[in-house]
Amino acid sequence: MARYLGTSLVLLVMALTTISPSHGFLGTEKKVKSAVFLSQKLEMNPGSVINSFFYDMDFPRGHIGVKSFDAEVVDESGNSVPLHETYLHHWAVVPYYQRKGFKLSPRDMPRNLVVGSKQDPDRNLVLGSRSNIIIVNNAGLCNTAVRPFFGKGSETRKTSTYAPDPYAIEFDNPEERPDGYELKWLLNIHAIDTRGVVDKSGCTECRCDLYNVTIDEYGRTIKPDYQGGLNCCYHKTQCRVRNGFDNGDKTRSLYLKYTVGWVDWDSSVVPVKVYSLDITDTWERKEGSTGDIHEHDCPVEYNVKPCKTNGDGCVDVKKKSFMMPFDGYVVFGVVHQHAGGLGGALYREDGEGIFTSMPEYGNGVEPGNEAGYIVGISSCYPQEPVKVSYGETLTFESNYSNAVGHTGVMGIFHLLVAQQLHEPEISLPALFQVKAAVVYRRQNREDGYHYQSLST
Ligand SMILES: *[C@@H]1O[C@H](CO)[C@@H](O)[C@H](O)[C@H]1NC(C)=O
Ligand SMILES: *[C@@H]1O[C@H](CO)[C@@H](O)[C@H](O)[C@H]1NC(C)=O
Repeated sequence: MARYLGTSLVLLVMALTTISPSHGFLGTEKKVKSAVFLSQKLEMNPGSVINSFFYDMDFPRGHIGVKSFDAEVVDESGNSVPLHETYLHHWAVVPYYQRKGFKLSPRDMPRNLVVGSKQDPDRNLVLGSRSNIIIVNNAGLCNTAVRPFFGKGSETRKTSTYAPDPYAIEFDNPEERPDGYELKWLLNIHAIDTRGVVDKSGCTECRCDLYNVTIDEYGRTIKPDYQGGLNCCYHKTQCRVRNGFDNGDKTRSLYLKYTVGWVDWDSSVVPVKVYSLDITDTWERKEGSTGDIHEHDCPVEYNVKPCKTNGDGCVDVKKKSFMMPFDGYVVFGVVHQHAGGLGGALYREDGEGIFTSMPEYGNGVEPGNEAGYIVGISSCYPQEPVKVSYGETLTFESNYSNAVGHTGVMGIFHLLVAQQLHEPEISLPALFQVKAAVVYRRQNREDGYHYQSLST
């Protein structure tokens, strides 16, 4: 894990050590560049919740192909913070085009950009309330929610996000950028400080009784049968803390530290699209279904009821079938689940298994190995890209232990899909090399943040 060698915000980028297996590809040797950034500051107290949206986050600029996005929560000295102190419920990264010259004021910043707004189907863009901002969503399948390009939760430290070579997610192609706009990035972080709380797992599952809230973020009354989930642990809510624990100042400043791996775009890089299948999607095949995003509503969260007997199993199996609205090749897949998750799988209609993605639980106290938390989830790197045809049905299965009940859990399968493969004639060994070591200094200017390359 990269550590700060100095104090302050000078970040050293460590050369990544993993080079994924290549399927062979034509082209010149490409360097995967890598840079580490810090989010804006998160000020947290025992029991506090932040669900912040940071616009114009630091990110590599230009016409690039993103290979990986990894993250973790660190304190002011750069030390990793364990999940049993600060639970990382989720983070999500959303690119958007902003009209040049437009100043986004905090009051303009809609809080529902990650989950709301109207679609422009032809451009795969979501138009904000004002067209000064144009959100760029992932390729589907959900209509509104679950459409960021990158996003994870507690598992982020030990989950590989690396797009196998020669694939990468393309951003800011000048031919696709609307005239007069520039590409920027939004970071959403939802974290819960569970130091001294009466029930750590209850607070992380956003159980309403522990948050003592009766209305949601938008002022709507929470229904009595709603037991837990994001409606009860929104920004600035407070989970119950043991009497006396919060005596004295326990405020601390934290950051999301994130590492972006990318290549400069050229014709040797093969683009992949990001799809997210949500297990709570209400989609059903009807006559004339196209599988298009407009047919998909995704509540995202669900509850798992405790099993009645403590006999065999106590596994909650949830399945959802989807019609694939594309022809393509799946080159990567990984599930997102919360504590209690037992893994996810993707099957073809005839029952053939395509991918299985399994959680890893910690068994200690140190960051990356916290007992009772999902600290990593296995990613799928198929030997050969998995061909998927338009109209085909795939079934997603998400398993949870229901030895105890759970509220506000998720089952999301993230996929990277190539529309075409690279030219197959010549097979060369792994050509992407992770070598670049770049030092960035974060500078605070009136117009936001920018970064400066100190060395390469
Ligand atoms: C819960 O909220 C109510 C009013 O909103 C307040 O009177 C009560 O003291 C709170 N309970 C706890 C345990 O914080
Ligand atoms: C989910 O549970 C069912 C029933 O126990 C099992 O057959 C299936 O293999 C499990 N799936 C995964 C991904 O572990």
